[in-house]
Amino acid sequence: MDWRKEYADKIVSAAEAVSHVKSGDTIVFEHACGESQCLTNELVNQADRLENVTISHMVAMGSAPYCQPGMEKHFRHNALFVGGSTRKAVEEGRADFTPCFFHEAPKFFREGILPVDVAFIQVSEPDENGNCSFGISVDYTQPATEAAKLVIAQVNKKMPYTYGNGINLKDIDYIVEQEADLIELQPPHIGETEKKIGEYVASLIKDGDTLQLGIGAIPDAVLSFLGDKKDLGIHSEMFSDGVVDLANKGVITNAKKTIDQGKFVSCFLMGTKKLYDFVNNNPDVLIKPVDYTNDPFVVAQIDNIIAINSAMQVDLMGQVNAEMIGYRQFSGVGGQVDFVRGASRAKGGKAIIAMSSTTGKTKKISKIVPILDEGAAVTTSRNDVDYVITEFGIAALKGKTLKQRATALIKIAHPDFRPALIEEFEKRFHCKFEE
Ligand code: COA
Repeated sequence: MDWRKEYADKIVSAAEAVSHVKSGDTIVFEHACGESQCLTNELVNQADRLENVTISHMVAMGSAPYCQPGMEKHFRHNALFVGGSTRKAVEEGRADFTPCFFHEAPKFFREGILPVDVAFIQVSEPDENGNCSFGISVDYTQPATEAAKLVIAQVNKKMPYTYGNGINLKDIDYIVEQEADLIELQPPHIGETEKKIGEYVASLIKDGDTLQLGIGAIPDAVLSFLGDKKDLGIHSEMFSDGVVDLANKGVITNAKKTIDQGKFVSCFLMGTKKLYDFVNNNPDVLIKPVDYTNDPFVVAQIDNIIAINSAMQVDLMGQVNAEMIGYRQFSGVGGQVDFVRGASRAKGGKAIIAMSSTTGKTKKISKIVPILDEGAAVTTSRNDVDYVITEFGIAALKGKTLKQRATALIKIAHPDFRPALIEEFEKRFHCKFEE
């Protein structure tokens, strides 16, 4: 059958498509900025007929109306990474968090560790062969969709067509045609602290290196110091608008990458229309499932890969907490450990944890601490940690003794907190701290 006929036959309204969700089902949503707002909103419209529907999701960038108080009887959100719109529900026990390395999420869905009855996806218009692209979010979304019993797709003209992923129309059960703006993430404000951190991180990056960047002001600050570099590459779980500027300037060419040469590789994207236009129909960009992009054994094949991630606390042994404020789950591991391990195995690779030295509303809390807060998880272990960078400098921890680590970390702590850290050092190591 001509795919155009099959396509036309599958078109229904959002209300009809969502009416196929049953009480007790588990639904997987497309990740981050790729989430189909029209399907989410319609699901919430139908809340009264549904009970015990689990929503497995990672970073929710939409408003997550299914997490509002009063929705608990109908929906239970299960986050593999807690975002701003789901944090309160997790904190109040109205939603759950499941620890998971990002590269393992596809295995969870494929092997039924996390069941998936229904996939809610948002895809591009079909190409001449009837294949739609997952666009800006492929990560776990494509593998979970392949595992789902029922696939409901919003086909959105505004979803970019990206390479390295896809779904054929025959594998979609219901199509909701709706043109809508994608969720955007505006570029962050880069302050003086982020600029200093960015400068230190950039000092470790050489011509020809490949970068993995996390999200936020620090990665963008790093990029702003790379304008005079040559032939940089991108192999990252995500990237944002900052990469587009360096690509347009010819700084990022991907020419020296030891795998996927000439290609930007990522598993999802968060940014503005500028980024989405850049990747649309761009054969130099591959957006692939996360069990490829984040597999430490794939990352390890990229010579000179520099992984840049952030953290909430680092203790004096070098243990990194990137995800909790005491007992409160603030975010998740994401791809941090995937890339720390991959970069550590790679020839010439470096894994960097870049963070401001202080945090809290008034910046009165040190992120370098004697011990992690009670309740907090270790995200990156002391055996895996490599470089830690703050606005006060670089601590290179690999191969260092506990005493050398503590010394290096105290030197990059905020000066206001150094006396207390030194007191702890002298107690712990039975010797004077040497500047
Ligand atoms: N007590 C009270 N509040 C605290 C706190 C404490 N001990 N520690 C942090 N906070 C608050 C901050 O004030 C801030 O609040 P705000 O959002 O209202 O400004 C918030 O918690 C975030 O803290 P901060 O330490 O400043 O985090 P950040 O914005 O630099 O982001 C991570 C850091 C760890 C949250 C982020 O990098 C992350 O989620 N990482 C996940 C792991 C990863 O790196 N994955 C790979 C890339 S996605």
